[in-house]
Amino acid sequence: VSDPFRPVGTVRLRAGRELPVRRGHPWLYRGSLADRLPPTPGPVLVEGADGSRLGVALVGASGGSLALRMVARGCEAWSAATLRVRLREAAAVRERLGIDSDAVRLVHAEGDDLPALVIDRYGPVAVVEPYEPAWEPYLGEVTAMLTEELGCATVVMRRGYGGDRRASALAGALPAEPVIVREEAARFPVDVAAGQKTGFFLDQRDTRWRVAALSTGCTLLNLFSYSGGFAVAALVRGARRAVNVDASRPALELARRAYRLNGLPADDASFLAGDAFAVARELAAGGAAFEVVVVDPPAFVRRRSELAAGLRGYKEINLQAIRLVAPGGLLVSCSCSALLDEDGFGGVLLAAAVDAGRSVRVLERRGAAPDHPTPLACLEMRHLKAWLCRVR
Ligand SMILES: C[S@@+](CC[C@H](N)C(=O)[O-])C[C@H]1O[C@@H](n2cnc3c(N)ncnc32)[C@H](O)[C@@H]1O
Repeated sequence: VSDPFRPVGTVRLRAGRELPVRRGHPWLYRGSLADRLPPTPGPVLVEGADGSRLGVALVGASGGSLALRMVARGCEAWSAATLRVRLREAAAVRERLGIDSDAVRLVHAEGDDLPALVIDRYGPVAVVEPYEPAWEPYLGEVTAMLTEELGCATVVMRRGYGGDRRASALAGALPAEPVIVREEAARFPVDVAAGQKTGFFLDQRDTRWRVAALSTGCTLLNLFSYSGGFAVAALVRGARRAVNVDASRPALELARRAYRLNGLPADDASFLAGDAFAVARELAAGGAAFEVVVVDPPAFVRRRSELAAGLRGYKEINLQAIRLVAPGGLLVSCSCSALLDEDGFGGVLLAAAVDAGRSVRVLERRGAAPDHPTPLACLEMRHLKAWLCRVR
């Protein structure tokens, strides 16, 4: 069996293309390469135009223009030891953060120098989500580390590429039931086998509890609720009532389960299955109002060609959401589209506010929780925006 860490070839960059990599950027685009990629799958050595060694990279297969992702820098070796050190460091950073939950993002890809590899930990269960097939030869090593050193009893794999989202067990047995995790004062069921992402939206943890703290005594509308995270946190912190809206029935079933786990009354009116655009429009037309409205849609802009339609989507859903905020209430508007930056997002919210005829002030601009680190050289990875706004 050939060593999967052994470089299968060398790729030289075109002149003038190495600065971002030298400064810590993890990506190389096809246009930056002077050579063709080797035909054999495996890691490649990356050299500057002058032949100096820049490091080792994994080959991207996602079909786009991104060709290489750096896994080792300079003369550092790409080896099982390097991989273990990275995983160990990632785990140590999470320990330092003192996250009040047993559901934690253990590895955030480029942010932990393990590009295109995500690992979420739900108590004894780790969910490994590789975003490139180039990770496949290393999953055995990753699994061994997770079980032997980090105490995970079960390791589940969900591919982040290729369309096959079916879960498989890399260690232990695939959980037949949702895994129950604790986050601050709430418990949540996490469907690691069939849920969205790896089963839970860990990136919103801090915003969830910030909004919960501001929702005591309030009514809350949770648009694009998934498993009810924002609603459950708010109700646990004393919100009066919450309504969850999601197009996915399994997601709402998880939300109901989350209510039951936390001893919250789960009446049918709290869970509306349907298109959030249509439901919000209907609620607004009926004169409904909530003291807190959360809008957390899926990414509407995943590629440049979707920009115009995506912007229209964000504007429309925020227009309806703003109409639904009681005077003086709170709008929590989120976007996880990497191609929509903060200024662009602000522009969309302003257009929605103007159309709604309401005055909107930004109180806080938040991002993903700190177990989702970003290399300073690659701030474009910071795609989650969560703005807390007062609506008059
Ligand atoms: C980013 S996730 C929401 C995460 C959630 N706020 C949380 O903190 O766990 C987006 C959700 O939108 C739902 N969704 C997608 N399109 C929808 C639509 N048109 N109407 C309602 N829900 C939709 C998906 O099922 C998914 O649960």
